Amino acid sequence: MEQVEKVIDERLQGKALVTQNKKGNTKKLFIESYGCQMNMNDSEIVASILEKEGFNTTQKLEEADLVLVNTCSIREKAETTVRNRLQKYNAVKRINPKMKVGVLGCMAERLKSKFLEEEKIVDLVVGPDAYRDLPNLIEEVEAGRDAVNVILSKDETYADVSPVRLNSNGVSAFVSITRGCDNMCTFCVVPFTRGRERSRDPQSIIKEIRSMQERNFKEIILLGQNVDSYLWYGGGLKKHFKNASEMAKATAVNFASLLDMCATEFPKMRIRFATSNPQDMTLDVIHVMAKHHNICKYIHLPIQSGSNAVLKAMNRQHTREEYMELVDNIYKIIPDVALSQDIIAGFCGETEQDHQDTLDLMRYVKYSFGFMFAYSERPGTLAGKKMSDDVPLEVKKRRLQEIIDLQREHSLLRTKEFVGQVQEVLIEGVSKKNPDKWKGRNTQNTVVVFPKENYKMGDFVNVKIESCTSTTLIGTAVGYSESN
Ligand code: SAH
Ligand code: F3S
Repeated sequence: MEQVEKVIDERLQGKALVTQNKKGNTKKLFIESYGCQMNMNDSEIVASILEKEGFNTTQKLEEADLVLVNTCSIREKAETTVRNRLQKYNAVKRINPKMKVGVLGCMAERLKSKFLEEEKIVDLVVGPDAYRDLPNLIEEVEAGRDAVNVILSKDETYADVSPVRLNSNGVSAFVSITRGCDNMCTFCVVPFTRGRERSRDPQSIIKEIRSMQERNFKEIILLGQNVDSYLWYGGGLKKHFKNASEMAKATAVNFASLLDMCATEFPKMRIRFATSNPQDMTLDVIHVMAKHHNICKYIHLPIQSGSNAVLKAMNRQHTREEYMELVDNIYKIIPDVALSQDIIAGFCGETEQDHQDTLDLMRYVKYSFGFMFAYSERPGTLAGKKMSDDVPLEVKKRRLQEIIDLQREHSLLRTKEFVGQVQEVLIEGVSKKNPDKWKGRNTQNTVVVFPKENYKMGDFVNVKIESCTSTTLIGTAVGYSESN
């Protein structure tokens, strides 16, 4: 339970995000981010936009001219966390009355100008597609007016904004490839807060990765709500094609080709991606993963429920059987792959049998990791409007606990498989528990710790695994790996 809670908390945790300061900038920005990795990357985009406006980041709330909180709406708890945080800003504003406070992200989009009425501390409300407007909005606020921009866009991808890396370990960086989601899962608020799905120009993606490589980054995490539906139509010579649809088809870059391009262009960089929606994941993607050593052998493949009735009520576009077939194919093509899940316990109408089906499916897949949640009704979603949140809280909690306990068993089973093996690890930081040890991950995304010796951050090291817990592999380095 603690591990799972910890993982979930890490997703929700707000942190003051800082970077090195740009000379000549005099204004101070305190920015923190809650929720998913996409929010984290968006905060980096925001910091980049504001750096040009004279803002440097600070870790001290008390000295901030501008406080921005990038928010998450995915579950009620995420929103409550942010509201509590606003109380803390309130206390600081009493000492520093000039401080302005802005809300970004999904809660901004969901609540719009209502935020200004509900939370008096808030001066500025900006949705995920409106960050380019921040300089104007800040001017408004400085002139003493409230400022709101929550317009969603069909084409904004911030492709040309080079994100300032915040709280970066200098090894691993996020690169967004799509924004928004068109899937309309009935429980999910994301399509309402992040708008329509759009893909980013592959050339701008390659350019960003190249600049990360030049700055010595070693790992790129391609981000999207649904990376497998990435699709870019663009370029190409019209005259070679009979009609627009033929041209679009011939010149389209899908996720498999984007992955292939990235892995070929940057053979020394690890490439990860998240999230894969089972309905859009093709065998092409899995073959591309198998072909390149530098594409990590890890797929986050949310299932949400193992019951067909619940999957249908959730508007997930696949059945339990189709999911199992996909998993069979993945294990066949990449036998050493690690899979992880998202599961929701206690969705509307979920019976005890449905819950058993979920546990049963988990036993079939034996996921390495999991992110598990009790269903939280979200206003505005189809489930929120049309379905009854009828599983009692106690039952939800018990089912969630059973899912978590089973996942813990499977995680341990998976980590034990590595004991005795040599694993290639990218060093990403110092172990929290022991400052004499490095911490990194193997290609399957499992954390590995080992004595530092003379290795450095960003090195690829072969580590002999000697023991494990359900979350961590413990070993000793046996030399540099060929990936350096
Ligand atoms: N495709 C996205 C999913 C975003 S939401 C991605 O990139 O991960 C992350 C997870 O939160 C979902 O997979 C789902 O398991 C969970 N979730 C979403 N809405 C929820 C709700 N209303 N209650 C509980 N969990 C929810
Ligand atoms: Fe949400 Fe489903 Fe999209 S979970 S982000 S609507 S794929």
